[in-house]
Amino acid sequence: MNRRHFALLGAALLALSGPALAQSDPLAPTGRWTANTAGQAPVPPMGWNSWNAFNSDVDEEKVLASAQALVDTGLAKLGYRYVNIDDGWWLKRRERDGRLIIRTSHFPSAATGPDTSFRPLTDRLHAMGLKAGIYSDIGRNSCGQIYTPDFKNQPEGTSAEREVGLYGHVDQDIRLFFAEWNFDFIKVDGCGVRGLPADAPRVKSGLYRALTPLVDMQSLGATNIPAMRGLYEEVGVAIRRHATGPYVYSLCLWGSANVRAWGKDVGNMSRTSDDIQPSWARMLTNLDTVTSRALYAGPGAWNDADMLFVGTGEFGGDDLTAARSHFSLWAMLNSPLIIGYDLRKLTPGLRAIFGNAEIVALNQDGAGNQAVLAYASDEVQIFVKTLADGTKAVALLNRGSAPVDAILTAEHLKLSPDGEIALRDLWNGQSRAFRKEVKLSLAPRETLVFRATGTRRLPGGVYLSEMPGSVNPAVDGVVEPQADPTIFQSITPWIGTRGGGEHVQYAGWGGAEADRAPFGKLLRVGGAHFDTGIGVLANSRLEVRNNGFRRFTATVGVNDTGSPDAGAVMFEIWGDGRLLARSTPKRFGQPAEPLAANVAGVKIVELIARGQGNKATVQPQPASWGGCCAFALTFRLFNLGNTGVVGS
Ligand code: GLA
Repeated sequence: MNRRHFALLGAALLALSGPALAQSDPLAPTGRWTANTAGQAPVPPMGWNSWNAFNSDVDEEKVLASAQALVDTGLAKLGYRYVNIDDGWWLKRRERDGRLIIRTSHFPSAATGPDTSFRPLTDRLHAMGLKAGIYSDIGRNSCGQIYTPDFKNQPEGTSAEREVGLYGHVDQDIRLFFAEWNFDFIKVDGCGVRGLPADAPRVKSGLYRALTPLVDMQSLGATNIPAMRGLYEEVGVAIRRHATGPYVYSLCLWGSANVRAWGKDVGNMSRTSDDIQPSWARMLTNLDTVTSRALYAGPGAWNDADMLFVGTGEFGGDDLTAARSHFSLWAMLNSPLIIGYDLRKLTPGLRAIFGNAEIVALNQDGAGNQAVLAYASDEVQIFVKTLADGTKAVALLNRGSAPVDAILTAEHLKLSPDGEIALRDLWNGQSRAFRKEVKLSLAPRETLVFRATGTRRLPGGVYLSEMPGSVNPAVDGVVEPQADPTIFQSITPWIGTRGGGEHVQYAGWGGAEADRAPFGKLLRVGGAHFDTGIGVLANSRLEVRNNGFRRFTATVGVNDTGSPDAGAVMFEIWGDGRLLARSTPKRFGQPAEPLAANVAGVKIVELIARGQGNKATVQPQPASWGGCCAFALTFRLFNLGNTGVVGS
């Protein structure tokens, strides 16, 4: 089929794309980018937060000293601008009018009168060229109140006065934080809707009111996902109503409630895991919760692997190998770079990590492409990130505690194996070059990070999996959220090895993946292996920002990890709400089919995969999770030629 045939087919199919279809079809294209772009997060936010350094023992002196250190050390100039107060700032909610009152013994400048105000502090931070962040909870009570054993600086008074969270006070509190106190950033935690069932000891003792839990970290089925999303959306609406300037809305739901799928639609950054700890194993857990989610992040909304622990525990001391790894990985994966260290103690070694401008630049690159996993084993992982100028960054991580050799190939980088590939080590500044492949030695817990330049495998175009920041899985086909089994199970630091181990339900299994089929599987259609593509479930819709490309080509089919019984899939390409091309029904085992469209002038390309089989078999049912349900399909993408003619 040539281009003219595609055009004719597209025109014929346009007849099908009337408003009636749009109304009844859950996959109806919107012609828009629907992930969140409100707020101010075109690149991942950077800054400092009090929690990892001080827990709830936070005060004004510590906050200002850290702010001053950001300025004095030049880190602020590098981009570390947000200075965020975490849990521990509040004294109570005044019963008379519901106003939140600040603990002025710890924040003396807030003692402006009976009302108290953070305005003097935010004014001061703003005058230093910084931005100010505040912390709240989506429930009535905060994490510290519910889970901290020693209760340092927790709210005081009657149980009503201790209800300092947003629940029932969204508009009032958000107005206070943004319009009156002039904060630029809010982190909204979720413990209040998780930890206060009627039989919780602190409820039974009368400290707090019960609130039927909406989140159960051990059970997705027992979690009310729509209700959680609704609560966070309500806060977003209130922020838009009251913010007087740019803002950042940070969701802190620790990967629960399927937030790894919808956080991008609601906030500017969204926690994908429970709390990080200053241990290597825990860092790996948090890392693994973002690794397969490159398509779920982009300019405006980022996966947040939690705040940095660089400088503390296994990321401190004389050997900073692990600290450099932690920092490199957060930078590569576009996690917000929020320092969690007491900056009054900053050493030159730590300054060199936070201040590595070339690594920071990877995180702050304007294309907003989270690094994609190019190679994975339990020992070594290779992450590749495509930068705005088309060049690459690559990180090779040794997860283990023995030295290991890793082979980096041109294929990992999607660079031509025939040309020379130049590598520049961003930790030691050394350069080297190779063709085809190179063997690199990794010390235990080491991450090597390079800028890589060579001949792009796709001159004049870009593969879709090279631009995950411009792809939004608006509908990813997951029907019943399933726990992701690929996340490293570390010893939960606050429990140790008591009990049977952690059973956190980080949903996301089966989501859309770059260069992999869903469930982390190989992209293979009709026996042919593709090393490049997007894997997504049937009944899905991807939105793609088209940054000036004119032609879109794909090779589509049902992935070999699917099932012969799970029905056919039709692939459609839409441009700004108009149908451009559609495949024939593709069945399991059939060879992939080329599909192409002219997308010149199109702003949003939408890629729709419609399952035509028995829907029940497409839905991953918890009881029968296995081969039967691994119904996956593949977009093998893409040559987007800016010259207008690129073959598939
Ligand atoms: C939760 C969050 C942490 C921190 C604490 C404060 O655990 O995940 O980042 O904000 O609450 O109590």
